[in-house]
Amino acid sequence: MCDGAGGGESLLPYARYIVSEPEIRRTAAGFIGYGRTRPGDRVLLAADTHFDPEVVEATAKAFRERGARVDVIVTDAGPDREFDDLDELRAAIRRRPWREEPRRWEGIPWVQELAAREGYDLLVHGKGGGIPPTKHRYEAFPWLRKEHFASRATVFPRDLHTLVNERAWRPIWEEGPGGRMHLTDPEGTEVTWDMWPEYFDHPSAMFGPVPRWNHLMSHPPTPISERESASGTVRGTTNHFGRPFVPITVTVEKGRVEHVEGGGVYGDAWRELLAEARDITYPCFPRPGLFWLWEIAIGTNPKIVRASNIRYLSSGGFEWERRRSGIVHLGMGTQWRGPEEKWAGENHLVYGHLHVHCMAATLVLETAKGKSYTILDKGRLTSLDDGEVRDCAAKYGDPDRVLAEDWVPPIPGITVPGAYEDYAKDPAGFIYSR
Ligand SMILES: [Fe+2]
Repeated sequence: MCDGAGGGESLLPYARYIVSEPEIRRTAAGFIGYGRTRPGDRVLLAADTHFDPEVVEATAKAFRERGARVDVIVTDAGPDREFDDLDELRAAIRRRPWREEPRRWEGIPWVQELAAREGYDLLVHGKGGGIPPTKHRYEAFPWLRKEHFASRATVFPRDLHTLVNERAWRPIWEEGPGGRMHLTDPEGTEVTWDMWPEYFDHPSAMFGPVPRWNHLMSHPPTPISERESASGTVRGTTNHFGRPFVPITVTVEKGRVEHVEGGGVYGDAWRELLAEARDITYPCFPRPGLFWLWEIAIGTNPKIVRASNIRYLSSGGFEWERRRSGIVHLGMGTQWRGPEEKWAGENHLVYGHLHVHCMAATLVLETAKGKSYTILDKGRLTSLDDGEVRDCAAKYGDPDRVLAEDWVPPIPGITVPGAYEDYAKDPAGFIYSR
């Protein structure tokens, strides 16, 4: 595809694909579609100044080709700049209602109000997180860069991606109750937890028979059971939306974070929050403290690639790559827009959750009946190698190629040559130099 054309022309095939695909109400790249759009529909497309204008233009054009009328809003996201150590906290942690101070993953309240008040048929807005219930259709818009958008990740075949998710999710949902999970990662993570049957009693969009598309929940969300057992250490060098940090070691006992060691300035800030919330009892947790481990989520799209401008806010940070198949992000704190966050915001108490990513993890489920499922094998989502998945992939070409990851996170001493000890002294220096 030629990159020289202006006005988003070179991006149009991707935009046309998205606009024609079914809708799903998720921010999961590879699943997003606006396909119910009809001639005469009114669409509000709301981006911000960190988006490449060509991505916005191409999307609007594809809608107009389908006969929709599209109004475009570009809000001011402030200057683009290099990430710093505290951006993850700025994106995720609050002490008052999110409507007063939206987080990175909240849609902008006045944009959402405008869409409702003016009777738009579809609002296209939001980079991540969940999508709130609305009377009108509401779909996400997570592609900040041309390289996010004009990518094989965007057009990864929907039926194939669905099957990849279903095959990975089936043993967790169907055989998980009463089983035990074990997660390890060569950067030092080792955590084990029980899949207590009570977690399966109240199915939801987050944790239910239908997979949480491209965000498979290998640990259930809040509320946390009295007998939660997750114990071990989480160790890594990246989060969703901050500068890479020297290895942080988060020690979890029976679900709760007990210690945070290392992590540089990110670690210091986390330790302060840990102390601030130590005596607060949140409605969703069995004992006091904010930092409980609940999000251990698996990305599923093999074609996701880290953006080349990763050091800048406008790259979307590592949040983008959490969607790549096999990358696990672990989140500790309250659940995004859960009842506990509403409660904390109203009471002006600290809430939100912080992340550590595992880029080459192995995840094994031991079921109550003694069967063993390796869901991740050294960063490979094993459902990509399932027989039915390969048969489906064959419709689109050589399955080996169709199901191959387009990018492997470079980690010296683990996925690329070098010494991990050298990388660990300055992960940002390594990641930003590539
Ligand atoms: Fe999260």
